[in-house]
Amino acid sequence: MAPKTKSSASGISCWFKVIAVLVGVLTPIWYVLEQRLESFYVFDVDHLRDLQLRSLQVHGNDTRAVVNYIVDELSTRAASANHINHDEEWVFNNAGGAMGAMYIIHASITEYLIIFGTAVGTEGHTGRHTADDYFHILSGTQTAYVPGEYEPEVYPQGSVHHLRRGDVKQYKMPDSCFALEYARGWIPPMLFFGYADTFFSTLDFYTLWRTSYVTGREMIGNLLKSKF
Ligand SMILES: *[C@@H]1O[C@H](CO)[C@@H](O)[C@H](O)[C@H]1NC(C)=O
Repeated sequence: MAPKTKSSASGISCWFKVIAVLVGVLTPIWYVLEQRLESFYVFDVDHLRDLQLRSLQVHGNDTRAVVNYIVDELSTRAASANHINHDEEWVFNNAGGAMGAMYIIHASITEYLIIFGTAVGTEGHTGRHTADDYFHILSGTQTAYVPGEYEPEVYPQGSVHHLRRGDVKQYKMPDSCFALEYARGWIPPMLFFGYADTFFSTLDFYTLWRTSYVTGREMIGNLLKSKF
């Protein structure tokens, strides 16, 4: 028995070494990338806000035209022109108990830009994320709740709901509501939240495949175009 005990003990210490080396190597890389996150971004928070307001001024409640206006302008803007998905590949999205659909305009390791919404309303958990999330309301209203409050936060058409990295809320779209959602920070960890309901609730593997295909294609495409 003695040699077996010895070998499993040395096996464990070997694993500890591997983990220690990985942590030792990855931590500085993560730290350097974290400092430089800003330089990877192809979208600008102030520009997106301005674009949201102008698209609504021009097209009002014609949300399809609003979305086209936004995508057209991002396609001509130097910083993002090369990073836009023009195909409106709408897919269902179930996450945190809420259900809607999304059109992925852009996805990378550090950002995503989507149109997210539903024509019938939904409610759920925002998820606790490793990215800042800017939810630009294009039509309808979103409400949000944080424990300790007795009144909802209300985000009508034309407003922005900024969910800070690490924060969490309960949110609701009481009726038809569509938004331009922009997330910047670390996107890959958010995908677990984005997929959990499909794996453990809906089992809609067609949607899972479509979402993975489009997200993967956009992320890899944008990674190859980025200037590391
Ligand atoms: C858009 O729809 C909302 C809600 O139905 C309404 O209050 C608003 O006046 C409409 N805006 C325009 C420009 O028609």
